[in-house]
Amino acid sequence: AKQWRGVLHEYADRLDVTAKTPIISLGEGGTPLIYASALSARTGAKVWVKYEGMNPTGSFKDRGMTMAVSKAVEAGAKAVICASTGNTSASAAAYATHAGITAAVLVPEGKIAMGKLAQAIAHNAQLIQVQGNFDDCLDMARELAANYPVHLVNSVNNDRIEGQKTAAFEIVEVLEDAPDFHFIPVGNAGNYTAYTRGYTEELERGISTKLPRMFGFQAAGSAPLVTGHIVKHPETVASAIRIGNPASWELALAAREATDGYFGAIEDAKILEAQRILSQEVGIFVEPASAISVAGLLERSEAGQVPADATVVLTVTGHGLKDPQWALRNADGGDITPTIVPVDVTEVASVLGLAKGSA
Ligand code: F0G
Repeated sequence: AKQWRGVLHEYADRLDVTAKTPIISLGEGGTPLIYASALSARTGAKVWVKYEGMNPTGSFKDRGMTMAVSKAVEAGAKAVICASTGNTSASAAAYATHAGITAAVLVPEGKIAMGKLAQAIAHNAQLIQVQGNFDDCLDMARELAANYPVHLVNSVNNDRIEGQKTAAFEIVEVLEDAPDFHFIPVGNAGNYTAYTRGYTEELERGISTKLPRMFGFQAAGSAPLVTGHIVKHPETVASAIRIGNPASWELALAAREATDGYFGAIEDAKILEAQRILSQEVGIFVEPASAISVAGLLERSEAGQVPADATVVLTVTGHGLKDPQWALRNADGGDITPTIVPVDVTEVASVLGLAKGSA
């Protein structure tokens, strides 16, 4: 049987890959677009979820990393470097090791999720914890790449954006047109930029009939694109998007303009509530940053900004298993401890509230 071959093979005609490009792939892309009845019922819209946690390292970064690492190897690079809130480092580590080159990753000390830290180490990255935030790490990674023989694979590298635009191609193929709205988390705004590019190319090729309105969301404690100024000390439970000075700021503003889009800010409590709605009503487990797409949809819908019957796609960017601690807390922040019983069927039945009889 034929299997999905990764975005560089599948979209070779839409990307800068030639016979000389060594394709470094772990089978990324081809992720499910899932119809979410529960979110559709809540909003009146037709809501689909693009589940990017299904990529090889559990986030959308793999789409960009296959492209960035392939082009780096084509250019003769022996090492790549990135700054990261966790997912980029996990992805860079996996693709670099697959290519037989080194990955150096700079992460903010104590501020990345355990699963992501484990991934980078498992894939043998040179992981360095910086006593600063993500924005400091990115400044340093850029300076290192400018002055030392290491290839930068953050989304300031256009190859990353190119690879990531393929998610929009997949959505248009499934829906047979672009959606009316696309909701997406925003940190550096690389992915917001990438989807806009992908949708724009589909429209220009005559494959779709419209551009979706691109609605991007940042955590209230780190929302520079909403407030219009750099946030020096960004804070949020959504550690993946704890970014105060987005690298793709100008591109993002242009994308918002071109799509009649929107940037909104969401409080942490609403992010965690949306994470719970998605895991309990739809069956998709995501990390907090990803749940902001859901929170954004609910907020905009309540504000009367999402017409009934609109087709809506939400990108959920990273898998819940990367950062599971939030699922083990209730809405008040208290720990959830599953019931403990002795080895006793009657006791289990009683805890489950089951009365005796056949099903
Ligand atoms: N969602 C997740 C799970 C992320 O990891 C990121 C970015 C974003 C959304 C935002 O994407 O930056 O293109 O706007 N994570 C980067 C990292 C910063 O280092 O893993 P963006």
